[in-house]
Amino acid sequence: MKYSIIVLLAVFVSNAQMKKEQLDLMPWPQNINLTAGTYTLTKKFRVNITGNPDSRLFTGATNFLRRLDSRTGLFLEQAYVNKRNEFPEAELQIHCDRNGKVGLNEEESYQLSVTSNKIAINATTDLGALHGLETLLQLMQNNGSSFYFPATEITDSPRFTWRGLMIDAARHFQPVDVIKRNLDAMASMKMNVFHWHLADDQGWRIEIKKHPKLTELASDGDYYTQEEIKDIVKYADERGIMVVPEIDIPGHASALLSVYPEIGSKKSGSIPYAVGRRSGIYDSALDPTNPKTYQLLGEIFDEVCPLFTSNYFHIGGDENNGKEWNVNPVIQEFKNKNKIANNHELQTYFNMRLIPMLKKHNKRLMGWEEIMTKEMSKDAIIHAWRGGNEGVTPGGALITAAKNGYNTVLSNGYYIDLMLSVDGHYLNDPLPKDIILSPEEKSRILGGEAAMWSELVTPLNIDSRIWPRTAAIAERLWSNDTITDLKSMHKRLKVISSRLEEVGITHIRNKEVILRNIANYQNTEALNDFTNICEPLKNYKRNGGGKKYMMYSPLTLFADACSADASDAYDFNKAVNQYLENKTADNQKIVTDYLKKWIKMNSDLNVLSAKAPLIQPVLILSNDLSSVSKLLLSAITEKKTVNKTVLNDLFEKINKRNSADIELAVYDSLKKLI
Ligand code: ACM
Repeated sequence: MKYSIIVLLAVFVSNAQMKKEQLDLMPWPQNINLTAGTYTLTKKFRVNITGNPDSRLFTGATNFLRRLDSRTGLFLEQAYVNKRNEFPEAELQIHCDRNGKVGLNEEESYQLSVTSNKIAINATTDLGALHGLETLLQLMQNNGSSFYFPATEITDSPRFTWRGLMIDAARHFQPVDVIKRNLDAMASMKMNVFHWHLADDQGWRIEIKKHPKLTELASDGDYYTQEEIKDIVKYADERGIMVVPEIDIPGHASALLSVYPEIGSKKSGSIPYAVGRRSGIYDSALDPTNPKTYQLLGEIFDEVCPLFTSNYFHIGGDENNGKEWNVNPVIQEFKNKNKIANNHELQTYFNMRLIPMLKKHNKRLMGWEEIMTKEMSKDAIIHAWRGGNEGVTPGGALITAAKNGYNTVLSNGYYIDLMLSVDGHYLNDPLPKDIILSPEEKSRILGGEAAMWSELVTPLNIDSRIWPRTAAIAERLWSNDTITDLKSMHKRLKVISSRLEEVGITHIRNKEVILRNIANYQNTEALNDFTNICEPLKNYKRNGGGKKYMMYSPLTLFADACSADASDAYDFNKAVNQYLENKTADNQKIVTDYLKKWIKMNSDLNVLSAKAPLIQPVLILSNDLSSVSKLLLSAITEKKTVNKTVLNDLFEKINKRNSADIELAVYDSLKKLI
């Protein structure tokens, strides 16, 4: 009797029509219409593909089945999808007219229709169909006894054609499996450009057969073979992602110059070039007046270009400080003789010589915004990083580029290595509503790209710096510009963040790995609680001007277990606001429970620290937090007057830089309670 009531209830719940706000879709589709009913999954569920897809859709559909089966445990009967129209009666019908070409401005739209007995994905290209499969996976619900899709009609297409993620594999090498799992995560967020930063001061990461010394002497053994590069390019293509390589020149070239100092700009007799070990800007620069420079670069391009199928090649071009050029008499003479007024123009001379070398391989040159000068070819793509979408340069390289006739991509505002809150990234629109540009100028803004510089990341913590914030950036680049509600984004991002584990992202699980080491294999609960209210120092403050952490320094510290948008801090802030608006007993309890939790947490941390020296650096902050919590708790619950001086002194201490390189993310909310 009881059982049948439960079943009835379950059926009732599953059949009640959902509301859009209940769905955890990201990026949010352009049009979504929920209709009545649900499609309930059984092991008989099968997929059928018709039309003219590339083989990538078969791989994609098979991966879809595996993910669906892993999530539901249904033991789906269909093993693989590898033939066209194999099961005309299948429950999920995917049709696409033609295979897509991975790259810019390709058709990526799809329609998804779910009814109580059929699901259909229709797309012009297989790239659109793959996006439809990701949306379908995000639609899935359960009612405790079964998994189902709510009946829906979705039509969807991207707002921007460039939806990228850059990973710097030069500062800290990121092995193939790190890249692959991030490509999978990108595909799940409908991102389509992987920008791969392969060479910088701190390392040369790509095999060059004609110049094996580059990886022998300038990679510490950590580099990608050409076979691995090709494998990753293929893996990305199967997921609808194009790969854009970057070899950063003429600055950021210490690793290259440590092997070939003869093409550097140092005066003879200076200290030799060496692979960089610290962060920050180096003076090292290629000599733009030396024919050997172009010969070597030509030989490198001749090997690198054919490995990549995309038509874009990023030459970096950023942060060349010109110091070596200024003191080199040969370079000064060259400038005088050729009437080159300044270093910026000299760099343009250098960049312009690269264009035909790349064109030969059918590649367009892309570079960071410093490459934009009067003489620079309009064929170049300008990558805005210092300035964004606000007015003319300085301050708005993106807009200036669009006005000056360049295609351009925005990364300013998407620097995820700054460890800033997701909110700012999310609201950073490449094309804000109030922007004054002609339709043609607007069309030159291709989109944006999250930038993951790797000075402070290793394979252990990189995922927690990229995700989940990059999912919110992906939504900005895909969804309608009216989708800006922060509350909705946070609610959906929480679910999406967990789902990223399904494709192998380690941002959640690796936190425990770090904490176990810190705790010296004692209980990690208190440490974990503390990570949920602490964040690593932001805006590169953690690295003290690039001098604190060398490339070989440990990134297994408490700050590495913490991340932006500390989860309890977000919830505590909400609770404090709610309490201050309405001082009910319930609202008070949520706040005081947190205070009690942190007092207990601190005493646990002190006990644990007796056998775990790595905990010592965080105790200063947790002790002060505990003192503040005790004072606030007695003020709130016992209505005791607090000594404001004592409290303010504590807050001042908390606000000071501590040796753990973290900040207390509940600081502002606690202050509100005074
Ligand atoms: C850059 O962040 N130097 C492009």
